[in-house]
Formats: sequence, C-alpha cells, structure tokens
Amino acid sequence: MKKTQFYVCPVCGNVITAVGQGSFSCCGITLLEQEPETCDENHQIILETVDNEYHVTMDHPMDKGHYISFIAYVTSGSVEVVKLYPEQDISVRFKKKGTGILYAYCNRHGMYRMLVKLNRANRG
Ligand SMILES: [Fe+2]
Repeated sequence: MKKTQFYVCPVCGNVITAVGQGSFSCCGITLLEQEPETCDENHQIILETVDNEYHVTMDHPMDKGHYISFIAYVTSGSVEVVKLYPEQDISVRFKKKGTGILYAYCNRHGMYRMLVKLNRANRG
C-alpha cells in the first residue's frame, strides 16, 4: 500500500484513497493527486509510542478556516484514515504496525508526510 495516493475534494473535504492509477471526481470536480511534502515548522507531526499504539498529535490551528482534516497511517499492508473536524483536538491513535508513513492534511496548506520506522519515530 506504499503507493497509496490521496485525493481530497476542495469543495466538501471528501477523502479518497487509491492503490493504483485512476481518475476520481467529487462535487463535479476532477480531483488531483495530492503530493505530500516533508513536514515544515508549522506542520510537524508529533509521534509518541504508547504500548502498542502510536499517538499522533500536532500543534496546529483547528478553526473553521484552517485545520487538519485528516491523519493517515500507511504501511505495506494497510491504510488507515482518521478524519478530523474544526474545534476538535488533534489526537489520534493507531495500532502500531511498524514501518510506514504518516500523512497529515491541512485544508489550507496541503499534505505532509513523515516516515515511521519500526519501534521509533523519525522526522523527515
Ligand atoms: Fe496549516
């Protein structure tokens, strides 16, 4: 699943994941594939390991005009997407599955990624 692609509707915020090439549309718009960037200083993904879980947080606004709308954890065998909404805390738990990629999507600034290595977190 490491080739997972994300598509986000700019109108309604719908999130579509794909494991191969495709053409997807929502709200009458053809969606473009998201191209994640490495985390910048305003979009750091903070990862803590608690027992068998990863606890993901971010220090980022969560107001109606600017918020993190989902966080995803992609490994070689699975894709998990957790949707977030304005006014909510950014606090997400995933069962630890080792090496993979964490993604966070900001409705204003786009998508960010961070590698997760088995049993520890790496920034980058
Ligand atoms: Fe942002």
